[in-house]
Amino acid sequence: MFERFGLTILRRLDPERSHDLAIQALRAGLGPRPGPAQGDRLAIRVAGMDLANPIGLAAGFDKNAEAIGPLRRAGFGFLEVGAATPEAQPGNSKPRLFRLTEDGAAINRFGFNNDGMERIAGRLTKAREAAVGAERAVPVGLNLGANKDSADRAGDYARVLARCGASVDFATVNVSSPNTEKLRDLQGAAALRELLERVMQARAEHAPACRVFLKIAPDLNEDELGALAETALASGIDGLIATNTTLARDGLASRHRGEAGGLSGRPLFERSTRVLAQLSEMTDGRLPLIGVGGVSSAAEAYAKICAGASAVQLYTALVYGGMGLVTRMAHDLDERLAQDGYGSLAMAVASRRGDWL
Ligand code: FNR
Repeated sequence: MFERFGLTILRRLDPERSHDLAIQALRAGLGPRPGPAQGDRLAIRVAGMDLANPIGLAAGFDKNAEAIGPLRRAGFGFLEVGAATPEAQPGNSKPRLFRLTEDGAAINRFGFNNDGMERIAGRLTKAREAAVGAERAVPVGLNLGANKDSADRAGDYARVLARCGASVDFATVNVSSPNTEKLRDLQGAAALRELLERVMQARAEHAPACRVFLKIAPDLNEDELGALAETALASGIDGLIATNTTLARDGLASRHRGEAGGLSGRPLFERSTRVLAQLSEMTDGRLPLIGVGGVSSAAEAYAKICAGASAVQLYTALVYGGMGLVTRMAHDLDERLAQDGYGSLAMAVASRRGDWL
């Protein structure tokens, strides 16, 4: 009841203010505390990480790693915080977050506003030390970004990994945000190869236990996607996250549809799931995949799993459904697996039904 009431008020406020208040409320201990939803069918191992359930928090929600403890208690199987850049930066001017209520969507153009890797590293270390019992079993990852005015953006990813990697279970190379000019150019084969080499070097030297994931855009064509999959496989990274927000604007009703930035939520579901299915076909089980984009119920999570995702993440649906959604989804997903006769999540992942190709 508290959550419903809280959400109603929060949704009347400016979206960024409302988001900041939600983080503060979590820090004050006002979030749900069911602990990670679990069950034999829901557990899965992804890139060597044991997840109690496959439902994760997507990057961008806890940008500054301020609410890891409460988020670990909210039911997620894993968390991704950040993006963190080497230097703190303010991001783009406000307003930069828009709710598209009629479309179950959001548009953001934050542009990597964050406290910088030093402060974030301190919080990650503290959170790791403070975790007790079941909380410790919820893996935490950090989304890596580049400073807007950096002369060496590829180097920024390696620097953040070197500084923070030892305090997290995974780090995600995010070259797919649409909100930093020319950032997505780093997804091209030659640039990406060099970038991943430097990141993997930083990992070898500073954080050998930290898995490295690559998060991609949903706006790549099949050739670009193929080249990217090849580069990812050759680089030795541990997994792919598909996808980030889209620049596409198809069939939206909200008055905010013309805002610049990345679109997330319901209208992203099909596009991101198709990209996921294509990647699944291209990588053929050689790299674990995490599906993100428009997941708001167990049905969408299950669709991504059957398209080849070992786990999913969500963000925008939390704005509309609240944190209670996570445990409900895990429970419903468990029922779906049972109904379809799957004894484990891994069996559903391996089915790769190909509905989206
Ligand atoms: C994001 N997302 C994001 N992704 C990322 O890799 N680094 C980031 O810093 C951010 N920041 C961010 C801010 C806001 C306000 C939103 C809505 C999204 C993208 C996010 O992690 C996810 O990939 C997309 O939002 C798609 O998932 P949903 O929202 O449709 O579940």
